[in-house]
Amino acid sequence: MFYKIGDPHGLPHDPFKSCVVPRPIGWISTIGADGAVNLAPYSFFNAVAAEPPMVMFSTNGKQAHGPKDSVANAEATGEFVCNMAAWDLRDPLNLTSTPVPPEVDEFELAGLETEPSELVKPPRVKASPTHLECVYHQTLELPCDIEGGRNAICVGRVVGVHIQDEFLTGGKIDIARIKPLARLGYRDYTVAEKVLTLSRPKED
Ligand SMILES: Cc1cc2nc3c(=O)[nH]c(=O)nc-3n(C[C@H](O)[C@H](O)[C@H](O)COP(=O)(O)O)c2cc1C
Repeated sequence: MFYKIGDPHGLPHDPFKSCVVPRPIGWISTIGADGAVNLAPYSFFNAVAAEPPMVMFSTNGKQAHGPKDSVANAEATGEFVCNMAAWDLRDPLNLTSTPVPPEVDEFELAGLETEPSELVKPPRVKASPTHLECVYHQTLELPCDIEGGRNAICVGRVVGVHIQDEFLTGGKIDIARIKPLARLGYRDYTVAEKVLTLSRPKED
């Protein structure tokens, strides 16, 4: 089948997000200009450079109170933390996506313990296996078809990395033990638990 964006695809649900899978989930903690702590999952999320390490997450659409808080907070206070989402954390993670006003602390809402960060103000999700402390770099505004919404990519520079020692095996992050959670399309998720290693082809 083929469909042109804007034309009916004839399927019961929009298949677009299922064409880009699995998507890692950045569980983004921020603090608003008023000091309110915020936590929300973003699967339009990825690492986008390594030297120096840079990450991005993208806000889409709106909540009842207007555009979503995480990008606005990162812009207002200049910092955010990417907490890794793991299989064991799937229920509290899902709870932190509840559409609540900016003054609601989603750590409390989901019963999650915080841990202070080293270099930035937003707290970390204590139970997350890894955390990337980030300084806001830039926002790229995108077209948005939803009236009153905002689609925008927020890019940050990673300034500090936490790895829980229990998830280091032989000096490597033990993905099979962490079981990172990732998004598929629809309401579906997957979990990374199988690791294979491929050597790069050699240059002649
Ligand atoms: C697994 C998961 C991934 C999500 N990914 C995104 C995303 O990439 N972009 C987005 O705008 N909303 C995403 N959402 C919805 C937001 O988490 C939700 O709208 C949240 O309330 C936004 O919170 P905030 O306003 O505090 O930033 C996702 C929800 C879940 C459960």
